[in-house]
Amino acid sequence: MSRILVTGGAGFIGSHTTVELLESGYDVLVVDNLSNSTAAMIDGVEKITGKKVPFAKIDCSDYEQMDKLLSQYNDIVGVIHFAASKAVGESVQKPLLYYKNNILSLITLLELMKVHKISNIVFSSSCTVYGQPDKEYLPVTEEAPIKPALSPYGNTKQINEEIIRDTAHSDESLHATILRYFNPIGAHPSALIGELPNGVPQNLLPFITQTAAGIRKELKVFGNDYNTPDGSCIRDYIYVVDLAKAHVKAIDRMLEHKAEEQVEVFNLGTGRGLSVLELLNTFMKVTGVNIPYQIVGRREGDIEQVWADPKKANEVLGWKADTSVEETLLSAWRWQQTLG
Ligand code: UD1
Repeated sequence: MSRILVTGGAGFIGSHTTVELLESGYDVLVVDNLSNSTAAMIDGVEKITGKKVPFAKIDCSDYEQMDKLLSQYNDIVGVIHFAASKAVGESVQKPLLYYKNNILSLITLLELMKVHKISNIVFSSSCTVYGQPDKEYLPVTEEAPIKPALSPYGNTKQINEEIIRDTAHSDESLHATILRYFNPIGAHPSALIGELPNGVPQNLLPFITQTAAGIRKELKVFGNDYNTPDGSCIRDYIYVVDLAKAHVKAIDRMLEHKAEEQVEVFNLGTGRGLSVLELLNTFMKVTGVNIPYQIVGRREGDIEQVWADPKKANEVLGWKADTSVEETLLSAWRWQQTLG
């Protein structure tokens, strides 16, 4: 059997990916320090799949503990590295925390992969590496220039991509797939796993669902004076289950030795840009729930518009994000309702 080490497997994207791996016949080993997630997500994964999930509450930047854990398994063939801090605003306040968590964990993993002879890694990157692409680069392909990061969080993604490239250059046995996510949203159709924001949600959809549930009074729409058709920012919102499936494809491709380059990069998005107001209106339409909102000033560091050209992932990975935004928004609402 082939086992995949999933770091951050109790998190939002990690838990959905663990489900898809198990349903595709892989064994898993989940490592998560639960700093921004809960073990209840592992229970949810077990309920959905009917399989027991081996789980270790370990910080994956802890070399000794990780070394000990990996010594207990001799069937790990790949790593999917989700574990990271991801709040853009917090990263500006606590840069060292972000550099430490996000960079040390990758370095530790790459060191241990060498020791334990694991040659494949999938890394969670972000469209944030493109910054605000110039008009000629919209929709964004993998060839668009990397722009200086706007936050320490974004910088950790860029630095980690470079660490992977340099390590692969020095070691031809290492294969890596860098996945640049656009905006993942939604929840598993079972409503047994989903997004669990810590405190006041920073991301748009959890804020919308919490407002719909009456937990928040009103949504603040950050700016309606952007150079977009309705003035609000445009993003590429992708269903988390579709996104999770791309990870299985990436692992399959490396294990089947189909990768054409030692380090491959894929944009994971739908190819469709939606504005904040379009997403909000679609949510209200499909759920029938009214969301009070107010237009306020722009949020510092926000990018005006970015959406993916997913052609490479479609053609090379053989993967497509095909769930409608309506279905995706309903899944998020069903999940919110289970939370109360
Ligand atoms: C940001 C990061 C992304 C990161 C992700 C993880 C950038 C450019 N993007 O995505 O790399 O992976 O966070 O958390 O740094 N909005 C509102 N009201 C709200 C919340 C959001 O109007 O209460 C708007 C924002 O202005 C934005 C859109 O909704 O236009 C999406 O925001 P959000 O969900 O926070 O994601 P990003 O900022 O795109």
